[in-house]
Amino acid sequence: MIANWKMNKTRDEALNFIYAVNEALPSCEKVDTVVCAPAIVLRDLVKRQGDNLRVGAQNMHYEESGAFTGEISPIMLQTTGVEYVILGHSERRQYFNDTDETINKKVISALKHNLKPILCIGESLEQRESGVTHDVLKQQLEADLAGVSPEDMENVVIAYEPIWAIGTGKTAKACDANEACAYVRSVVKNLYNAAVAEETRVLYGGSMKPSNVDELVAQSDIDGGLVGGASLDPESFLKLVNACVK
Ligand code: 13P
Repeated sequence: MIANWKMNKTRDEALNFIYAVNEALPSCEKVDTVVCAPAIVLRDLVKRQGDNLRVGAQNMHYEESGAFTGEISPIMLQTTGVEYVILGHSERRQYFNDTDETINKKVISALKHNLKPILCIGESLEQRESGVTHDVLKQQLEADLAGVSPEDMENVVIAYEPIWAIGTGKTAKACDANEACAYVRSVVKNLYNAAVAEETRVLYGGSMKPSNVDELVAQSDIDGGLVGGASLDPESFLKLVNACVK
């Protein structure tokens, strides 16, 4: 279960969250719990993360260093002690010009620096309504995972996030979300093999909350969630994490 705080929480708010959840989180043997926070608080969170919590960033540049004002490199993230990095979130694709080409470079670079990419893919409402959801998912996976070896796939998490469900309160129906996640897995199988497809964690994201998490994570092909709004409150986030233990 992964929290994506997006551009939310001051340092004090981030620390209060960590103090509130650290002791209450279930064992990481039962569920992997990750908080992806704004870069400026990552070091603070890593220093205080309990045994059952991992910390992730929300984006990175693919170069190790250079004249890229405002960007953060994989080496910087690695030395901060984070384990995960969200790549290709639809908000980055939409507002910050992330393309499948740059996302692919970021995925390769993250893996090279021992960071686990949480690769986000998903279709827009227009694409869903015109019946091209599968084509979009396939094209994104093929482009974003180009050059990633089967061994490296062990460290890649895929998040299926239909854009129309993000921050809108409109959750995908559990059966539709499951169908899309199953399709994602079938594409991974074609790109790699059945074992890799079986082992790859495929998450659903888009208005997941305590009231719908049980039904979503009970689906055969949904391994967990990538959650924005409902991950900001410690109590709500704990409910989401605990739903994965059941
Ligand atoms: P919401 O849970 O706020 O819909 O956001 C989903 C998301 O974009 C997670 O990355």
